[in-house]
Amino acid sequence: MDNKTRKFTRRDTLLLAGAGALASFVPAGFAIGAQAKVRIGMLLPYSGTYARLGNAITGAMELKFAELGGKLGGREIEIIKVDSEAKPPKAAELTTKLINQEKVDFLVGPVHSGVAMAMAKIAREEGTMTIDPNAGADQITGALCAPNIFRTSFSNWQPGHPMGKVLLEEGKKNVVLCYWNYGAGKQSAQGFKDGFVPHGGNIVKEIGVPFPEVQFQAVLAEIASIKPDAVYTFFAGGGAVKFVKDWHAAGLKDIELVGAGFLTEGVIKAQGEAAEGIRTTLHYADSLDNPANKAFRKAYAAKFGKEADVYAVQGYDAAELIRVGMDAVKGDTGAKAGMIKAMESATWDSPRGPFKLSAAHNPVQNIYLRQVKNGENVVVKIAQEALADPAKGCKMG
Ligand code: PHB
Repeated sequence: MDNKTRKFTRRDTLLLAGAGALASFVPAGFAIGAQAKVRIGMLLPYSGTYARLGNAITGAMELKFAELGGKLGGREIEIIKVDSEAKPPKAAELTTKLINQEKVDFLVGPVHSGVAMAMAKIAREEGTMTIDPNAGADQITGALCAPNIFRTSFSNWQPGHPMGKVLLEEGKKNVVLCYWNYGAGKQSAQGFKDGFVPHGGNIVKEIGVPFPEVQFQAVLAEIASIKPDAVYTFFAGGGAVKFVKDWHAAGLKDIELVGAGFLTEGVIKAQGEAAEGIRTTLHYADSLDNPANKAFRKAYAAKFGKEADVYAVQGYDAAELIRVGMDAVKGDTGAKAGMIKAMESATWDSPRGPFKLSAAHNPVQNIYLRQVKNGENVVVKIAQEALADPAKGCKMG
């Protein structure tokens, strides 16, 4: 398996243009094409606040590919890594280069919803097979849905949706929303509200923090003065480490900190004592007691010397979805209709539990209520079984 992380330079661009022209004369189904490597372009953050998310996704995909003997549909694999930096303004150019110059067969990414919006618009036009292993932008499997676009993660609406019910059952009615103020944070808050407000919940205040800012002192002071029953949050990666530590240091004892589970994913070790006891909802938990999860966590820990998290699971499942498609067409990446058909109906035992896709190509999945105990996200219960995203505006064309 080849690996490289690219920063596109002008020299690269010229070299790639030459290589791309050659590649376009070699149809995948022909003898020489059958030996050509299948090209997987990863547009993920390898720097910045979401770097650990991009690395977890990439590592788990490589683990799955290694388990498959380094081949997909009989072809060897070439991974082309591009650092998205989680910066939406760079996304269109990087996506176009992966498609037109690197001539990738599969596009995998991104992590950030803003990057996803730009990427999906281009992938839709070009018809490139695309797997989103994290970014939750509701539109990807909503108004921007397309036959060639699949998601193995979640829609932003999904993870927090069942949390409202959890709080209301405990008499916690007054909630402050606090999130990174971009697509993902806003849509996560909306998912929570949709499960909370119609059932009697009251949103006292919404506090948006510019992404990727981590100055939380003024926010925490405001929350302390409002004294809500709970605060629902959306933060992830480096920002989640800082928020949880600052919250702990602020000693807001009578207010419960909850959130979409990203708050304590891949960051528990860095958060340490400050994460203990935090409850969140998500489509995964470390302690899930199923054979696929146990085997995956063991293999991931053995390969990388650290614990797996939801991002790793989503990457692992992205690789599995590609395997299903490639097996169905015996490695002929030109046979997109057959590939899509097989991927749409694929089901398997994921570490998160049963994996299946909705008609909009978004996972239909259990959302678990979890709590951090001794540095682990432990399942408390299934907060909502087989939750599907509303897929607003999706018309598969
Ligand atoms: C997103 O931008 O869609 C996003 C980023 C990080 C997460 C979840 C969602 O953990």
